[in-house]
Amino acid sequence: MLSASVVGGAGYVGGELVRLLLAHPEVELRQVSSRSQAGRYVHSVHPNLRGRTRLQFSRPEEITPCDALFLALSHGESAPQIERWTRLADRVIDLAADFRLKSPEAYRRWYGTEHPAPEWLARFVYGLPELHREELRGARWASGVGCNAAAVILSLLPLARARAIARIVVEVKVGSSEGGAKHGLASHHPERSGAVRSFAPTGHRHQGEILQELGDIELHFSVTAVELVRGILCTAHVFTHEPLEERDLWRIYRERYGAEPFIRIVKDRTGVYRYPEPKILAGSNFFDVGFERDPDTGRLVVIGALDNLMKGAAGSAVQAMNLMLGFAETAGLEFPGLHPI
Ligand SMILES: NC(=O)c1ccc[n+]([C@@H]2O[C@H](COP(=O)([O-])OP(=O)(O)OC[C@H]3O[C@@H](n4cnc5c(N)ncnc54)[C@H](OP(=O)(O)O)[C@@H]3O)[C@@H](O)[C@H]2O)c1
Repeated sequence: MLSASVVGGAGYVGGELVRLLLAHPEVELRQVSSRSQAGRYVHSVHPNLRGRTRLQFSRPEEITPCDALFLALSHGESAPQIERWTRLADRVIDLAADFRLKSPEAYRRWYGTEHPAPEWLARFVYGLPELHREELRGARWASGVGCNAAAVILSLLPLARARAIARIVVEVKVGSSEGGAKHGLASHHPERSGAVRSFAPTGHRHQGEILQELGDIELHFSVTAVELVRGILCTAHVFTHEPLEERDLWRIYRERYGAEPFIRIVKDRTGVYRYPEPKILAGSNFFDVGFERDPDTGRLVVIGALDNLMKGAAGSAVQAMNLMLGFAETAGLEFPGLHPI
C-alpha cells in the first residue's frame, strides 16, 4: 500500500478526500491535518466517517513524508509553501486554484494578484483526466479543477474539439457547499435558504480555466446560486458555425466520451430524470451530459451535471492520483450517486 495524507482535511473537499482515501484499495490514509481541529478525531468533524477511522487531526506542520499529498486549503494558501509540500511527497495534488492556470499573466488577470511561485505554474498538470490523461500518468504535480469550470469544460469539450462552436452562453447553477465550510452573512441560513442569487453574472474566475482548457472560444459565462447544498447544473446555449442535427451531436459526444469511465450521455424519452440532474450524482464521481437541438433556431442546449465536491473536486483528484501512481483509473471511485428520493 502507498501512503496518502490530506492537508486541510477539516474542510468540505478535505472531508470528501478522507472518505475516498479511507475506502481506496491501494492507498493507506496516513495523516489528515487541520489547524483548528488538531488533536480531535476526524470523525468528530466528518460524522459520516464514524466507525471508519480512528485518525486524529494533526497540525499542518506535523505532516510527515508520504507518497501522495493532497492540499485542500483555501485559495492562495498552498502556493506560498509549495516548496515545502513538494519536498514532503513524491506526488502532490493541490485542489485550490493556486496552480490551475498555466501563466502568471492569466493568474494576475483572473485573481488580481501576482502569483507567489510563478515558476511552479507550468510544472502542474491541470487535473482533469478526461483532458490530460496521458500527461497525468506518472506526473508528480497536479492541480485540482474548478468545480464550475469542470462542469462547463466537460459539457463543451466534444464540440470545442470538433471546432463546431461559434458562440456559447453558459449559465451555471450551483449549490452552497461550493463556498466551503467558512460561513458569513451570505451563507447564513435565513439569507441563503430559498435564494436564487445571481452572484457572478459576468467575470467569474473560473472563466480563465475554461478558456485555457477549451481554447479560444467566444464564451459568455454566468453563475447563479440556487437552493442546493451539493451539485452543479450547467446549461450551455451553443451557436454553431454549421447547422448540427441531433445525430451529429450523438456522434460527436460518443466519439469523445464513449470510453470514459465517469461520463454518461443522458437523454431519456420519458420519466422525471430525462436530462442530467445533479441530485442523483451526490457523492459520485460521474459527470452526466445531455443535449437537445432547438428545431426552430438551430440553437443547441447542452446540459451537464456533477457533484461539485466529487467530480468537481475530490473525485477528479483521486482519479488523477490513480493515473499519477499507475493504479487503475477507477480505483476507489466505482460507486453510483444516491437514489433521487
Ligand atoms: N467547495 C467546492 O465545491 C470546491 C470545488 C473545487 C475546488 N475547491 C477548492 O478546494 C479548496 C478547499 O475547498 P473547501 O470548500 O473544502 O474549503 P473549506 O471548507 O473552507 O476548507 C479549507 C480548509 O483549509 C484549511 N486551511 C486554510 N488555510 C490554511 C493554511 N494556511 N494552512 C493549513 N490549512 C489551512 C482550513 O482548516 P483549518 O482552519 O482547520 O486548518 C479549512 O478546513 C479551495 O481552495 C477551493 O477553491 C472547492
